[in-house]
Amino acid sequence: MSPTAAVTLRDMTSDDVASMAALEAVVSPRPWSHDLFAGELSMPAAERHWAVAIDATTNELVGFGGIMFVMADGRIVEGHIMNVAVNPERQGEGLGRRLLDRIMREAQGRGAEALTLEVRVANQPALALYRRAGFAPVGVRSGYYGQGEDALVMWLHDLQDVDLEGASHD
Ligand SMILES: CC(C)(COP(=O)(O)OP(=O)(O)OC[C@H]1O[C@@H](n2cnc3c(N)ncnc32)[C@H](O)[C@@H]1OP(=O)(O)O)[C@@H](O)C(=O)NCCC(=O)NCCS
Repeated sequence: MSPTAAVTLRDMTSDDVASMAALEAVVSPRPWSHDLFAGELSMPAAERHWAVAIDATTNELVGFGGIMFVMADGRIVEGHIMNVAVNPERQGEGLGRRLLDRIMREAQGRGAEALTLEVRVANQPALALYRRAGFAPVGVRSGYYGQGEDALVMWLHDLQDVDLEGASHD
């Protein structure tokens, strides 16, 4: 049995918000607030997708990931990865990749042609996660996260051609 076999992924609900904010406070230097996570659920469902990873034994939330869809002429053209996080005690088990795969499959299924994201230039684990998933760096936004904290902008083009069939399933 793989280490992540006891973790299932499902759509986020309002009951997850407090656990998501608590996890975010542990892993992020500039954490999203409770209200910011709650606000994502008030966005039209057609414009976003958030998933959570739940330990099936303890029922504890151990990760989450979310994407916002960019519409043009009434259809989805791009997805913007908003956030991905995994409980530090469960990092390195493949959960970040599973969450990202789920988000990417959702975006692919909805017809998005490309994905973008911003990540701190010094965030090596996240950079490695995104690179392995096919994202490439395209530029730097200076001071995006405040003074001295630059963001690397990453793109994944041709999402419809990405083979996610072999990716681990929920
Ligand atoms: C980024 C993060 C979500 C990765 O989650 P994770 O569950 O540990 O990642 P996975 O186990 O699925 O690893 C996926 C890939 O990421 C890379 N990776 C993950 N952690 C890494 C680390 N500490 N160092 C180097 N590469 C790492 C590896 O390439 C790995 O692929 P491989 O196992 O095939 O080599 C996690 O480190 C995290 O929650 N960080 C804090 C929150 C954050 O910074 N989120 C990003 C916001 S943009």
